Amino acid sequence: MITRISARGAITILAFFTLAIPFGVQAEDYLSPVGVTPDPSGEFLYIVCSTGNQIARFDIKSETTTQTFELGNAPTGVAVSPDGGRIYVTDESPDGKVWVFDTASANLISHISVGHTPVAPTISPDGKKLTVCNRFDNSVSFIDLETERVIATIPAAREPIAAALTPDGNTLIVANHLPDGPANTGMISAKIQVFDTESRRILATIPLPNGSTSLRGVCISPDGRYAYVTHILGRYLLPTTQLDRGWMNTNAVSVIDIQEKRLLNTLLLDNIDQGSANPWGVSCTPDGKRLVVSHSGTHELSLIDRERLHEKLSAAEEPDQIPNDLAFLVGIRQRIPLEGKGPRGLAVVGDQAYVAEYFSDSLAVVDLERKESLRARSIPLQDPVPMTDVRKGELLFHDASVCFQHWQSCATCHPDARTDALNWDLLNDGLGSPKNTKNMLLAHQTPPTSMTGVRDNAEISVRAGFRYIEFTVLPEEEIRTVDEYLKSLTPVPSPYLVDGELSEAAKRGEVVFKKANCHHCHPEPLYTDLQRYDVGTGEGNEAGTEFDTPTLIESWRTAPYLYDGRAATMKDVFKWHQGTEQLTDKEIDDLVEYVLSL
Ligand code: HEC
Ligand code: HEC
Repeated sequence: MITRISARGAITILAFFTLAIPFGVQAEDYLSPVGVTPDPSGEFLYIVCSTGNQIARFDIKSETTTQTFELGNAPTGVAVSPDGGRIYVTDESPDGKVWVFDTASANLISHISVGHTPVAPTISPDGKKLTVCNRFDNSVSFIDLETERVIATIPAAREPIAAALTPDGNTLIVANHLPDGPANTGMISAKIQVFDTESRRILATIPLPNGSTSLRGVCISPDGRYAYVTHILGRYLLPTTQLDRGWMNTNAVSVIDIQEKRLLNTLLLDNIDQGSANPWGVSCTPDGKRLVVSHSGTHELSLIDRERLHEKLSAAEEPDQIPNDLAFLVGIRQRIPLEGKGPRGLAVVGDQAYVAEYFSDSLAVVDLERKESLRARSIPLQDPVPMTDVRKGELLFHDASVCFQHWQSCATCHPDARTDALNWDLLNDGLGSPKNTKNMLLAHQTPPTSMTGVRDNAEISVRAGFRYIEFTVLPEEEIRTVDEYLKSLTPVPSPYLVDGELSEAAKRGEVVFKKANCHHCHPEPLYTDLQRYDVGTGEGNEAGTEFDTPTLIESWRTAPYLYDGRAATMKDVFKWHQGTEQLTDKEIDDLVEYVLSL
């Protein structure tokens, strides 16, 4: 009897592995390249292999990886010293570091401690200074490379995610990933910040057009005059009844005039009947003639004639209409399909564009000089690893080529499977009731779903997403993988923790949390009891509505708060959410610190 049970157990386990997970495949087995930085000699590329936990040095002539630089965790970016002797690698960790490697020996020389999830390292032309963006600390660190010390850490807007230095090294342009501020005012957008690298002051904070979110890449023209930023331009004020002509989301590049520190204009990368979803990497060719953009959702490159672009921008009679003009790039842009999936960071060396293809563990190469019949090749960076269901689901979640006319993917509104910070008037609960985009973390573990709980569970929401937001119908065995991907998400530790522990204020806040009975509806471990309540937040046609109690885990990264994104900060929540009336101001501050630590 015992033998039979264990035998059956073994069979079940075996079947589970062979059906669901290709035997023994782990996330680390994929390289998942996200970025490419050329060596100054033009002979090598340093490829940021995120889940591969390494930087690969790729020899351009032989088209092979000739050296790897191993980290214990995922790299996010790499900068190369002007003499090519060192690389500076940022890593994806709460106690973030810059890893300094000697390129000749591939030895690790030292670590420089920076903030939470450092990204986008840039190095000054003289090789003496390095900057990194601490994405989840919302700050930028300036590092002196002679002493390997952080000289200053300056607050940025929200999730600084990409940065570029002018050729003279004097100005740093920082792209903040997400909008800040409330989502229900009719104006919400992410910001570009202009830093003076000498004084380390912010010279300007430039809001992008209303609905700008999910910024990913920035580059500066070789003459230092303009910065180009990739982002989504969400038409969130319209009900989500259709996709035609970019009704919901459009895909854009904003042009910043660096001298004048202002937004010159924003242009759409889509065509009138074909979206070019989720723009990510952006780079100018060294001669400044062209601008190259990767589209991570539609697996293609845009090649834009930069001179004609600026001629058109200055000749425009109605510049205000350019951000709505789906025909603006007609005649001055080519779309080049890629063979690999999920192109992200890119670099141009000479006449060749090199693009990191995240999902296919490959590098796309496009010879830009072949003006006729431009074609991309895809060079595998390792032998193909079979895709697990989680990986397939991650790809489908980011894949806009399944969407009607390729306008958007799930990741358009749920970047990194989180939130774009915008409100959307989805049709799940009737028209005229916009809701703030929800985090995908714990969605499957905390039914029902949506703010009002109109969906019984996340499985239903996922299928509704494909049918009613992407206007597509997919086989169940494919959609199922998206559930697996979303279930596999794990919380990122809060930047409010101190060495992984609650701060003193947060510990006091934990006591207040119990005293004020918050745990009645937000009990551990999920911080929701999965029930609906009216806590006094419903306004207008939502007055008296019972809302699904949200989990509080990762709420540090999901502002703005409440169903309509009315509360820009955690403290603002309690202007409307009942339950803190008896608390002192100090107790509320401690409570806020605690919730932001979860
Ligand atoms: C146009 C923006 C947009 C797109 C595109 C989008 N979503 Fe959403 N999603 C939202 C918003 C807004 C909500 C919150 C809706 C509500 O509460 O009524 C949401 C909620 C959800 C939820 C429920 C989460 C919870 O815990 O309540 C799931 C699951 C979800 N989306 C999955 C998807 C998937 C899968 C896709 C792609 C097929 C997708 N979404 C595409 C905006 C979007
Ligand atoms: C009676 C049940 C209940 C109690 C008690 C309660 N909450 Fe809530 N909480 C909710 C509901 C329901 C919502 C959703 C409201 C909305 O979206 O407008 C919510 C929303 C929130 C949010 C916003 C989260 C987000 O992502 O938008 C925070 C933060 C929060 N509660 C913290 C607390 C704290 C702190 C306490 C104790 C002072 C508390 N809650 C007590 C039910 C409760």
